[in-house]
Amino acid sequence: MTSPPERREFEKPLWEQWEEQRANATGERLQKVLALRGWGSRRVCEEMISAGRVTVNGEVAVLGRRVDAEQDVVEVDGVQIGIRPELVYYLLNKPAGVITTASDPQRRPTVTSLVPDEPRVFSVGRLDADTEGLLLLTNDGELANRIAHPSRGVEKEYLAHVHGNVSGSALKRLRDGVELEDGMTSPARVSQLSPGVLRITIHEGRNRQVRRMCDAVGHPVTRLVRTGSARSTTAGSSPAPGVRSPPPR
Ligand code: URA
Repeated sequence: MTSPPERREFEKPLWEQWEEQRANATGERLQKVLALRGWGSRRVCEEMISAGRVTVNGEVAVLGRRVDAEQDVVEVDGVQIGIRPELVYYLLNKPAGVITTASDPQRRPTVTSLVPDEPRVFSVGRLDADTEGLLLLTNDGELANRIAHPSRGVEKEYLAHVHGNVSGSALKRLRDGVELEDGMTSPARVSQLSPGVLRITIHEGRNRQVRRMCDAVGHPVTRLVRTGSARSTTAGSSPAPGVRSPPPR
C-alpha cells in the first residue's frame, strides 16, 4: 500500500524569507521596545508576544523578533504603540480624599503622588476632592487640550448617590437644564438606576456641576463617581494607583 504524499508547508518566496532574516538580524528586540514604551517589564512583554497579542506590520510577532522602532508598525491588541515614547498616559481611578491640584495647604494627597514622579504629568480636567473615579494624567499637552477644550464638549458620565428618591419631574429638570448661578446647564442624559442612584452624562465641565445640579432639584449628592469620559471607563477597576495605558484614541 502506498502512503499518502507528505503534506508540505507552503514556502514563502525567497525574497520574503530574506526580508524576514534581515529584519530579524537588525533592529531592537521587540520586548525591549515594548518595555521602553511602558507596556510592562521585559518579561511581561515577552509573555504578550508569546500569547500572540503583538503584531509587527500586521503580522503576529514571534519571540525573538527584532524591529526598527521608527519604521515598523507595532501593535498590542490592535493598538499601535506610541511613536513618542516620552509621552505617558495614566488612567487613574481617583479615590475620595485625593486632590487634583498640584499642592494643597491642608497637605492632602494629590493625584500626582499616586503615579511615578518621572516623567512629570498633570491631570486633564479635575475632580473635587470628594469625587471618585476616572481621571487622565499625562504629559501630552496636545491631547489634553483636545480633550479638555470646552468646544469639544467631551461627554463625562457620573454615578451620583443622592438624598431621596428623585421624582420624574426632577429628572426631567436635570435632563432639560437647571438654572445655576453661572447660567442654565445644557441638556444632560439622566436616569435613575435605583431610588437615589442617578447616572448623569454631561458634556460641560463647570465647577462642581453635578453636585450643584442635584442641589438645585433638592437632592444633594452623598457620593459622586466619574465612571466614564469620552471612550474611557472605570468599569471593573477599584480605586488604585494609576495604570499606565496606551493613549486614549
Ligand atoms: N461635578 C461635580 O460636582 N464634581 C466633580 O468632581 C465633577 C463634576
